[in-house]
Amino acid sequence: MTIFLTGATGYIGSVITEHLLAAGHRVTGLARSEKSAAALAALGAEPVPGSLEDCTAIARAARAADGVIHAAAELSPEGPRLDRIAVEAIAAALVNTGKPFVYTSGVWVMGNTGGHMADEETPVNPVPLVAWRAAHERIVLDASGLRGIVIRPAMVYGRGNGFLGQIFQPDERGVAHYVGTGENRWSFVDVDDLAELYRLALNAPASSVYFAAAGPALAVPIVAQAASRGAPLESLPLEEARRRMGPLADALALDCMVTARKAIEELAWKPAAPPVLEALAHRG
Ligand SMILES: NC(=O)c1ccc[n+]([C@@H]2O[C@H](COP(=O)([O-])OP(=O)(O)OC[C@H]3O[C@@H](n4cnc5c(N)ncnc54)[C@H](OP(=O)(O)O)[C@@H]3O)[C@@H](O)[C@H]2O)c1
Repeated sequence: MTIFLTGATGYIGSVITEHLLAAGHRVTGLARSEKSAAALAALGAEPVPGSLEDCTAIARAARAADGVIHAAAELSPEGPRLDRIAVEAIAAALVNTGKPFVYTSGVWVMGNTGGHMADEETPVNPVPLVAWRAAHERIVLDASGLRGIVIRPAMVYGRGNGFLGQIFQPDERGVAHYVGTGENRWSFVDVDDLAELYRLALNAPASSVYFAAAGPALAVPIVAQAASRGAPLESLPLEEARRRMGPLADALALDCMVTARKAIEELAWKPAAPPVLEALAHRG
């Protein structure tokens, strides 16, 4: 199959690309710069020049493919607007084709899960940072004439530092911070396991949602300790964290645990990577 991927140069998207190619698929990928196009070509994918707001290029590449995976995200205030443009362009291009459109969301749409493992039946309750995502999920899931599928990855780790390495990067004093009291827990997923789930999800039925998580949910300071390579830890009170990092603070303060039983049962997903603490301990 030919799969059109947005975000194919990103942390998650580049690993999805590898897994799709290894499974014998052809991958075309949106590339917004010469650098991204070269990175894609180096991976073995075919660059499609364009950015998330280039509806015409996106629609043409979506129609030419057998399925689409949207894993791009612009980390700017423009991000939600660009995401909507791309989502609407892909959904419109695939109407009446029956092709899969796999959309990348995240577990922050669940908000606090109240000490319980959320599953796909649990109603969303997004933190403000990702409030827009719930509407974009709905566009994908309600689209008719195609198979709209949403994947909500837990905190992703693997292949180096990833996002965890960034958020628990020690400051100039060598101290790493977690937000709030440190009693909150998160779920995790390895990036190669996650990429495999995307590949399997291309065969999922219309209007499917899947959490991607594996291994135990862990208290955040335990992970902060491992991700910061044993740096001394300090709690950052939520109000102070909001002043320093804006709405990201509330996402990092979440007590958010999810189960991926549905993906395991319906898609025969078999997450096999070492759990997050082991992976962090053995990274280069
Ligand atoms: N990482 C996690 O722990 C995690 C967990 C849950 C959900 N997610 C979600 O997963 C998605 C991907 O995350 P990631 O960690 O892989 O992000 P990432 O490493 O920052 O990758 C972002 C990708 O989007 C592309 N991109 C950004 N702006 C673009 C634009 N205007 N036009 C075209 N392409 C653009 C980037 O291309 P360039 O190479 O050109 O920059 C890159 O390929 C996001 O929606 C994120 O919220 C991530």
